[in-house]
Amino acid sequence: MTETSAEPHRSQGAGKCPVSHIAAEFNPFADDYLQDPYAVFTRARAEEPVFFSPSLGYWVVSRHEDVRQVFQDPAFSASISITPLKELCPAAVDELVKAEMVMGPSLVNEDPPLHTKRRRLIQKAMISPARIEAVTPRIRALTTSYIDGFVRRGHADLVADFAWEIPALVAFALMGVPDEDVERAKEFAGRLALFTWGYPSEEEQRKLAAGMGQYWIYAKEHVKRRLEDPTDDYISNLIAAWRKPGNEDLFDENYLVTTMMNFLFAGHETTTNATANGLRALLEHRDQWAALCADPSLVPGAVEEILRFSSSVVAWRREATEDTHIGDVPIPAQAKVLVLTGSANHDEEVFPEPERFDITRTNADEHLAFGFGRHLCLGAPLARIEMGIFLEELTRRLPHMQLAEGQTFTYSPNTSFRGPDHLFVGWDPSQNPVPEDRP
Ligand code: HEM
Repeated sequence: MTETSAEPHRSQGAGKCPVSHIAAEFNPFADDYLQDPYAVFTRARAEEPVFFSPSLGYWVVSRHEDVRQVFQDPAFSASISITPLKELCPAAVDELVKAEMVMGPSLVNEDPPLHTKRRRLIQKAMISPARIEAVTPRIRALTTSYIDGFVRRGHADLVADFAWEIPALVAFALMGVPDEDVERAKEFAGRLALFTWGYPSEEEQRKLAAGMGQYWIYAKEHVKRRLEDPTDDYISNLIAAWRKPGNEDLFDENYLVTTMMNFLFAGHETTTNATANGLRALLEHRDQWAALCADPSLVPGAVEEILRFSSSVVAWRREATEDTHIGDVPIPAQAKVLVLTGSANHDEEVFPEPERFDITRTNADEHLAFGFGRHLCLGAPLARIEMGIFLEELTRRLPHMQLAEGQTFTYSPNTSFRGPDHLFVGWDPSQNPVPEDRP
């Protein structure tokens, strides 16, 4: 693996000796890993499925069965899941202080019993099947209007022109952000994966912190507005659930703001990356793309295979609360654990011929891209609907699009969120199948 400018911690276990090849070489920020982590995952599963990475200071877990165990086992806490890997520099701290940001815990980094009670309430108030169904026409309308924006042009960057904005706009619509505020709120939706799961430079970290601070201020205003004037949106519904007798002590106003903050981050980059990964995989496997264009009933299976084959979340974190084991490997209390969900999704024990991209694979939905167990992604039904609509509309209107030749794909250097920064495609607009789409 090549070296990068990343500056991983040295920490507990660094003296552990001898260190295997895979453990010594593991560098999730290296260029070749970012390009193709799956080659490393295959080696890890075969050579040392659970190993300690001295440079990262984490135990790394690669097999499907072991990753599932960590997600399920109460001996592993979610407390560190979204703690920035790189300590904040003073300039970044200043930005957060300026915004009076008091980021408390939120669902994703809480443990039972509080997590169980809050999750029940949030799930019911915010992400019920009825609410998701209600937002579906909005997703279709947004998708249509973004495709309208480039369909006659003959070329597009499917990240910048398409996949980056729509998931954020859907999240805003669900949270009841008024149309006139969307432009402002959008500005703060930066690429936060680098902030939380990477080693940004101090200037990058400061800029990302400044965006977070601004969004915090906006979220606070929005929550205040909904406390005074509730409507029919996620935040208003959560407020109504909180105000029901018996629920008042479950959280406070600050928790509502943190929830609004994390809701955008949880639903945005994850879905953007999943869409971009999926379109890349489909266009690189032309037979699969052609099959999908010919038969839209294959869309749900394609979504699952995309999530399996090229997960947008390739790793997640946990911390051991007591001395325990993963498989037969002893893990000390307070050990930090990086579970490679991307590797679990290519485990040959579960998925025959795992490197084959097959949208008709029957058990693709056994992937762990949304986690597993008590923290299983609450937005999974929404993400599936968004991705499905994107595929339906793109295959219908641009079945003849091709990946632009000669492009190199770049990926944000972080452990967990994976998707190309750009995805350039081209087509002959005079051949657009929908007559109104022709120039
Ligand atoms: C393809 C898109 C997505 C992927 C790959 C994804 C992945 C994940 C993962 C890996 C977790 C952590 C699971 C764990 O700790 O065990 C998670 C949690 C969560 N996700 Fe997603 N997510 C996606 C989209 C969304 C969307 C669209 C929303 C909401 C709008 C959302 C909301 C949440 C919430 C609220 C949690 C915390 C659940 C809890 O801790 O109880 N996600 N997601």
